[in-house]
Amino acid sequence: MNFLEEIARRRTFGIISHPDAGKTTLTEKLLLFGGAIQEAGAVKSNKIKKTATSDFMEIERQRGISVATSVLAFIYKDKKINILDTPGHKDFAEDTYRTLTAVDSVIVVIDVAKGVEAQTEKLVEVCRMRNIPIIVFINKLDREGKDAFDLLDEVEQKLGLTTVPMSFPIGMGYDFKGIYNLWNNNIRLFKDEQKTTISQSDLIDDLDDPALKTAIGASAKSRLDEELELVREVYPSFDRKAYLSGAQHPVFFGSALNNFGVQELLDCFVDIAPPPLPKDSEERTIVPNEDAFSGFVFKIHANMDPKHRDRLAFVKIVSGTFTRNVPYLHVRHKKKLKFSSPNAFFADKKEIIDISYPGDIVGLHDTGNFKIGDTLTSGEEIHFKGIPSFSPEHFRYINNADPMKAKQLNKGIDQLMDEGVAQLFTLEFNGRKVVGTVGALQFDVIQYRLEHEYGARCTYENLNVHKACWVEVQQGGQEDFAGFKQTKAKFLAKDKQGQLVYLADSAFSLQMTQSKYPKVAFHATSEF
Ligand code: G4P
Repeated sequence: MNFLEEIARRRTFGIISHPDAGKTTLTEKLLLFGGAIQEAGAVKSNKIKKTATSDFMEIERQRGISVATSVLAFIYKDKKINILDTPGHKDFAEDTYRTLTAVDSVIVVIDVAKGVEAQTEKLVEVCRMRNIPIIVFINKLDREGKDAFDLLDEVEQKLGLTTVPMSFPIGMGYDFKGIYNLWNNNIRLFKDEQKTTISQSDLIDDLDDPALKTAIGASAKSRLDEELELVREVYPSFDRKAYLSGAQHPVFFGSALNNFGVQELLDCFVDIAPPPLPKDSEERTIVPNEDAFSGFVFKIHANMDPKHRDRLAFVKIVSGTFTRNVPYLHVRHKKKLKFSSPNAFFADKKEIIDISYPGDIVGLHDTGNFKIGDTLTSGEEIHFKGIPSFSPEHFRYINNADPMKAKQLNKGIDQLMDEGVAQLFTLEFNGRKVVGTVGALQFDVIQYRLEHEYGARCTYENLNVHKACWVEVQQGGQEDFAGFKQTKAKFLAKDKQGQLVYLADSAFSLQMTQSKYPKVAFHATSEF
């Protein structure tokens, strides 16, 4: 297979959902249908991350598991599928945002009974900001839930998506009888006895086949006829270009637990989902079929063994091929590095690989060279865009609890921040360090890891911050900026990149500051 064919057959995507909607179950069932695993239950989920546990050993154990499930790759219908795992727990949402910089499309899972939930809204917003093509999978149709049309409305209203039903359910819950596949125009009837293995359930090719009426009953049949008519009248027909540009969003219905509707999703996904897409760098747009290699680090994982502080940096390949033992330019450090044992990931294992293509993820052993967002290339000095920091939700001063270990503490904090565990802000007026996290759980993780991996101890002190805003002076705004800096001196900090951040103590003071200094812009993310 030549280079261009290798690129064209790759599908790199993420599955996102509010916790408990069925992301893990769907992932597992895709692997099952893809032939990557033989029975359900083989892939351990990131479940622990969903519960508000502060059992550190569990967190540690979990980190090991999530290395294994970070990228799940398999071949289906000659396509190389790379599923990038995203943590379910909201405290790790920033990890998910970063993973979304490495996907070419996403599948959003929604619980039929709960509809669109908070975490789904946030994640979809990030996808829409980046025009990532989105497919929606409405799950748990074997349970009573909301009416299909109401749900489609909700998805349109709350998520701002333009839905195009690709399948339509026949009943739900106790009365769930099957799914009409609008993509292939056939009907699969539901049998709920096959939860762990795949069986071919009955497939009917024709809506007018009398077998259908016999199977689902006359009233369900006439309701289906009416609903399909409505679907065809109300919703646009599928247009792949519109889907790829983020203007249309195909919707599937099913029950992941019961293996139902999953194959339809997968079959359509491999047909319509995009191959690796071009990516913008600060200098220019890089397209996958360029000969020269380029890629970026979107995730760093500390390894399980605390004695060896080695880490695995996950690199998404944007263009060219990544070859083992070839020196590549680490753009930020301006030095060449070569990798003797790059890992490729499969559904059930990782192994050393000689060559990888655009769309693939390679795992590189790292002793502290990488941080999130770093670019690797064949030699060109480019910097990929699109890995912004978002304002953390929780802020605390971090103090050194063991003066003899200041060096270890600083090194530990530095490396944990490079991994993206949390964000560090240094207050301008007194140099104190403030850690910002998306969830309270990370404070425990940081404290635990500093102690166990770096031999350093820290304490925290509360700090009242509502939001971190990245500050930008607009044209002609020098006077405003000077005034702002003077009055808010105590609230100004630098992030790890040295960008100026305003740590607003309340929504009110942020609003007041915004109106008082209109020529200073306050951004919710570090990239603007
Ligand atoms: P998540 O990764 O999005 O957080 O969700 P996960 O797949 O772990 O699923 C959450 C719960 O929903 C699980 O039940 C799972 O079995 C169930 N589930 C997933 N898909 C379906 C479906 O199609 N129908 C029904 N009825 N349930 C579904 P649990 O009791 O929390 O866990 P478990 O003991 O089953 O593992």
